[in-house]
Amino acid sequence: MFCSSLTFVASANPILYQGAEPVFIDSEPETWNMSPRALERAMDAARQEGKLPKAVVVVNLYGQSAKMDEILAICGRYGVPVVEDAAESLGSTYKGKKSGTFGKFGIYSFNGNKIITTSGGGNACLR
Ligand SMILES: Cc1ncc(COP(=O)(O)O)c(C=O)c1O
Repeated sequence: MFCSSLTFVASANPILYQGAEPVFIDSEPETWNMSPRALERAMDAARQEGKLPKAVVVVNLYGQSAKMDEILAICGRYGVPVVEDAAESLGSTYKGKKSGTFGKFGIYSFNGNKIITTSGGGNACLR
């Protein structure tokens, strides 16, 4: 599975827990989040190897969204679902739409260090 490179380890650990291999996609300078160009290159290479990822885990770090329209377009072209880790972006928006509502799944965290906390726990929303 593909995953953002600039993130907390909790974005990559579930990939390992499933026995899969995280492939880290580099950030771009405007949002610090997943680079659509790097994603496109990695997708192309993966397709040539006949090993497209099962999903792409995009992280929206520090309240700032990745360029979701570009990322969704790329993933759509390759038929790969997007999981959006919005643990650090609850309440923020991208082009007027709430972070965590773009991918197939949106993940929020209510851990003690988050914007809203229940002292622990989190939530996954299937779209
Ligand atoms: C980007 C990111 N993803 C996932 C998590 C994990 O959230 P939780 O501790 O609720 O499992 C965190 C929490 O620190 C995070 O910052």
